[in-house]
Amino acid sequence: MVANWKMHKTVAQSTAYVRELCRLVEQEPLPERVEMVVAPTYLAIAPVAARVRVVGVGVAAQSLDPGREGALTGAVSGYLLFAAGARYAIVGHSERRQQFQETDLMVAERVGAALDAGLTPILCVGESALNRERGETEAVLHRELDAVLGDLPRPAPHLVVAYEPIWAIGTGVAADPAEANRMAALIRRRVDEAWPGAGESVRILYGGSVTVANAAAVFSESEVDGALIGSASLQVQDFVTMARAGGIHQEER
Ligand code: PGA
Repeated sequence: MVANWKMHKTVAQSTAYVRELCRLVEQEPLPERVEMVVAPTYLAIAPVAARVRVVGVGVAAQSLDPGREGALTGAVSGYLLFAAGARYAIVGHSERRQQFQETDLMVAERVGAALDAGLTPILCVGESALNRERGETEAVLHRELDAVLGDLPRPAPHLVVAYEPIWAIGTGVAADPAEANRMAALIRRRVDEAWPGAGESVRILYGGSVTVANAAAVFSESEVDGALIGSASLQVQDFVTMARAGGIHQEER
């Protein structure tokens, strides 16, 4: 369960959130198989990581720049993020692809850089409304996956892939759970084709307008292992409620 705060929350607000998160989780532990991750802005990674470590919550960067250290004004590498306490990195979010012109090639480079730095990449893939209308959804998912899978020298055992249809992000219109499940199965198959045997272990998330109201339906699908949640994760109580909903279904499987 990944909370993507995007460009929200000051450092003080971020630490207040995780203080409350720790309190809620200590009060009532999360179901055993639930892994919780928060993705604050770069600024809050270190203070958030220092606080959540004790309760076993992970911290993700929302992006990263390739390389380690060097003359790259404004850049933040995986190495620096890991040192600050991050253990995951969201890569290839559609907002990065669209608003920061990140190409498939750049996404692949960042996934490799995340792995080199010891970060678990959370690779985002997903089609636009136009892609879907034109029947290009499968082709887009394959292209975005192949760019990364084909670029890695060896299978990445901890890879996480988030299926995030662009039309569902921030719109209040989530994908139909059965359709999200079909896409998750397609992603799993593609990973397995590229790296035989790896399909089973890759964790697949759904993202796009997940809320407290629809979380249980999303998690009831067999191929969906979790969720990448934007605006609904900004309220700590809601994030915990959605994580618990996920845990119930994991236990039922
Ligand atoms: P949303 O964002 O939950 O606000 O739709 C999801 C995401 O962008 O990962």
